[in-house]
Amino acid sequence: MESEAPGIDDGRHPATSHMTRSEENSAQDSATASGKNPASGRSPVLEGRNLRKVYGAAENALTVLADASITLQNSEMVAIVAPSGAGKSTLLHLLAALDTPTSGAIYFESKAIETNNEAALAKFRNCAVGFLWQRHQLLPDFTAAENVAMPLLLRGGDSASALQVARKWLAEVGLGNRADHRAGELSGGEQQRVAIARALVTGPRVLLADEPTGDLDEQNAWAMFELLERLHRAHQLTSLIATHNLALAARCDRIVGLEHGVLKTREATAFATGTLGGEAS
Ligand SMILES: Nc1ncnc2c1ncn2[C@@H]1O[C@H](COP(=O)(O)OP(=O)(O)O)[C@@H](O)[C@H]1O
Ligand SMILES: [Mg+2]
Repeated sequence: MESEAPGIDDGRHPATSHMTRSEENSAQDSATASGKNPASGRSPVLEGRNLRKVYGAAENALTVLADASITLQNSEMVAIVAPSGAGKSTLLHLLAALDTPTSGAIYFESKAIETNNEAALAKFRNCAVGFLWQRHQLLPDFTAAENVAMPLLLRGGDSASALQVARKWLAEVGLGNRADHRAGELSGGEQQRVAIARALVTGPRVLLADEPTGDLDEQNAWAMFELLERLHRAHQLTSLIATHNLALAARCDRIVGLEHGVLKTREATAFATGTLGGEAS
């Protein structure tokens, strides 16, 4: 899968800036009916089915996920909100096939990921899913462009074209003028934007973001979230975002909680105001 040259989008449409994403989707559905904005159909993109993850063994065994199931539909933006230690990172790592479940399975486009097929796994990790780590994990001595180009080089691209695509992505995240700066010279917010460009440079269908605003101040957190929303929409991503920030989570299509290793679906606004119980989806 070759990454397309990213288009530049200057930001949110002012008329929708205060809507939740569900409201915006409804607005988009109406637009579709009028033929203005063809929306893509709903279909499962990434699924975790009955995921169980136990770390350690015998008396040291720690069950982090007991029976976690989640389905991300095409073009959905879903937030996962749960306390520290609840298993958010564990779940995201399983969904990205960066780790294997004790039992249960991951499905991409309705096909089970073959965990014993290294080539298929590598392709899935490198092409299907973009992963945004809480701590961006950039290589500080390499330039921003080199960091972003890295996933393309890992899958065997030539360096000139990889760097060219990387520069386009850096421009899209607002860092076109910092492409040749070493990553270690950039601010925390800028480094996280480089990490977003790196997560998306291969043109994945899915973005998994692990507390992408966790280390940022409030202003930078909002800017980061708005950037994620813009990229999500511009590139028709399917996104799952772990966050502690309920105000940001409430802007997603839906919020999922994680309690005792089981995922619970909650209605966004009620969750944000704490008025709902934790019924399973
Ligand atoms: N590799 C590991 N080995 C043992 N325990 C782990 C490992 N990774 C995470 N854990 C434990 O699993 C629990 C859930 O961790 P994590 O998924 O990082 O939660 P969250 O992202 O919600 O903070 C924590 O108690 C953590 O200490
Ligand atoms: Mg975590």
